[in-house]
Amino acid sequence: MDRPSLLDGRTRAIAVLTKTDLAFQQCIFPGCGATYGVDEVRVACESCGGLLDVVYDWDHLRPPESLRFFESRWARRNDPVCFSGVWRFRELLPFAPADSVVTVGEGQTLLHPSEGVARYTGMRPGRLFLQYEGMNPSGSFKDNGMSAAFTHARYIGARIAACASTGNTSASLALYCSVTGLLRAIIFVGSGKIAFGKLSQALDYGALTIQIAGDFDDAMQRVREVSRQLGIYLVNSVNPFRLEGQKTIMYRVLEALGWEVPDWIVVPGGNLGNASAFGKAFAELRQLGLVDRVPRLAIINAQGANTLYQLVEKRGVRWNGGHPPQETIDQFYAEMDRQHRRADTIASAIEINRPVNLHKCLRALEVCDGVVRQVSDQEILDAKARVGAGGMGCEPASAASVAGVKRLVEEGVISPDERVVCILTGHQLKDPTATVAYHTTDQEHFNRVLGSRGVKRAEFANRAVEVSNNLDEIIRAIQLYS
Ligand code: F0G
Repeated sequence: MDRPSLLDGRTRAIAVLTKTDLAFQQCIFPGCGATYGVDEVRVACESCGGLLDVVYDWDHLRPPESLRFFESRWARRNDPVCFSGVWRFRELLPFAPADSVVTVGEGQTLLHPSEGVARYTGMRPGRLFLQYEGMNPSGSFKDNGMSAAFTHARYIGARIAACASTGNTSASLALYCSVTGLLRAIIFVGSGKIAFGKLSQALDYGALTIQIAGDFDDAMQRVREVSRQLGIYLVNSVNPFRLEGQKTIMYRVLEALGWEVPDWIVVPGGNLGNASAFGKAFAELRQLGLVDRVPRLAIINAQGANTLYQLVEKRGVRWNGGHPPQETIDQFYAEMDRQHRRADTIASAIEINRPVNLHKCLRALEVCDGVVRQVSDQEILDAKARVGAGGMGCEPASAASVAGVKRLVEEGVISPDERVVCILTGHQLKDPTATVAYHTTDQEHFNRVLGSRGVKRAEFANRAVEVSNNLDEIIRAIQLYS
């Protein structure tokens, strides 16, 4: 046998790749198409500056003939690589040798039907599902990508990793560094721009935390410069290996639906890594004949951070077979700078002006016949309260997906009978400030935290009942309110 078998789980075979041509990096623009080895560290094409994909020679890698193949892994959950919700799908992201794989038990996440949220969005019972990516070790979907980036980093022998972050990437990087001891973490955050749950993680896990006087976009620009200058491994989603890990969110959704493809995947859009990864996952599954159709994709921006919505829905920007109208995009950014418009939303995770994966995301929208919508902070917080009351809770950015479904049902774009999956990207505990402000009895506190963002009411607030420390009064309050 001249090629490594990927079907032999016992040897944990993930193609024995060195500089072979079984996997490589390639510029996403068909007009360029420059290729690089998987042993190279790149976040952009040297020739044209475009984003890079990890591309596989499927003819020689011999992936499984059916997605049911992956069910065999459930029987071997004591093997960490089979336990991982990322690496048990390793035949679909075979870019590194088995002994490089890094896992901290990511991807034990749940697809949960929520009747309360279905009702809220106008969907029929049993048609709306919530994918709880907040159940990952660091509390967000980022761990899917981080395990893949760490695997690549280990493969190429990196020592220091960095990212810019609105909080979750940095929490994930910090956790993987502290658990594995493989790399030192340096994180760049906009000062005052990240929720306390996330900042507390980075500090607790021991990451070198650089707070920049600026926002996420400023931090992103600086971390790129610093990484280039100091040869630091960058784990933002411009790193194509990270997105390979994030593809597995879609595999787990399919798995939970008995390998049936839903009608819609709805995801919040920030830096657009997830949407890009999902599009790639389905393009590959279709290419491999593992699915017979792809779902439609709905990407939901916060109104205060709506670059994708503006470009796609207002200016008609499309991937256009690899020829997006770059002048329109450049003009939009020039206008944004001229008017000093900066992203501003309670959903701090997606408070981003210039999404780094814009081009890949446009391609994903083409693959999945996608749409983009924007929702206000009011809609986000109301949806978040409904998720909390009818499910297991999420952070504000995640709830944009649910608010987006409500809008799309109202518009008649999503039919109440279709099967819809919302990706809840981050855990409820990530941003207690937003949650407490929504439910507070203190109007001043509400106004201070939320009023400035146009949030006027908290229709679904579950307010604490204040009573004096007196047994009769406590009993009276319980009888009155229960
Ligand atoms: N939801 C949450 C909870 C996030 O943390 C992010 C991104 C997104 C949605 C958007 O995902 O970038 O793939 O479109 N957070 C990044 C960070 C930017 O730094 O943690 P995306």
